[in-house]
Amino acid sequence: MMHPEWFNELARTRRSVFPDQFVAGKKVDDKIIKEILTNATWAPNHGKAEPWLFTVFTGAGLQKLADFQSELYKEEAGNEFAEAKYVKLQQQPLKASHIIAIGMKRTTKKNIPEIEDIEAVACAVQNIYLSVSAYGLGGYWTTGGVTYMENARYFFGLEEQDKLLGFFYIGEIAIPSPAAKRMPLEEKVKWITA
Ligand SMILES: Cc1cc2nc3c(=O)[nH]c(=O)nc-3n(C[C@H](O)[C@H](O)[C@H](O)COP(=O)(O)O)c2cc1C
Repeated sequence: MMHPEWFNELARTRRSVFPDQFVAGKKVDDKIIKEILTNATWAPNHGKAEPWLFTVFTGAGLQKLADFQSELYKEEAGNEFAEAKYVKLQQQPLKASHIIAIGMKRTTKKNIPEIEDIEAVACAVQNIYLSVSAYGLGGYWTTGGVTYMENARYFFGLEEQDKLLGFFYIGEIAIPSPAAKRMPLEEKVKWITA
């Protein structure tokens, strides 16, 4: 039996938890990550194309991601190159237990606008956020680093028409995030009743 109050609490207490708040070096069971990803695939999607493609990095795979993204940044940054950013791209992945690269595989067979494929993947990411929280784990979606670099997507099995939408970092929580606030409902919702 599902109680709506449980979901209310989950939705309202879910917080982004960042890599510096993770327990360093502690690995989450892969079985939990598979459950979380299964929930992701139950997101709504127009045309039933399931336009997501996830790549999971863990163990030595985290170093592979770190090497890939820092080297790509070095190649592409040109005069904008900043050593601190390079080092961050090297170090940040190693703080996580698992990192899920979030890909949007463009639906080609049906008349679905691109934005709807992106929206479906965002719904999948919300399922990841909520699942991570339900398991008592920490995590967040980042669109930083190489996310929007034209040449990044191929490393994640994506092609030209597809998009890399960022990375979901997951780890055990050492330092919980503080409680957050949202604007009053009245500022965001308009009711038309007559
Ligand atoms: C599409 C998207 C991209 C995000 N990218 C980043 C990011 O690059 N860096 C970051 O620190 N947080 C990122 N976040 C997480 C937000 O910072 C976070 O959701 C926000 O601060 C609200 O906090 P909460 O998730 O605890 O409610 C992103 C969130 C979304 C939805």
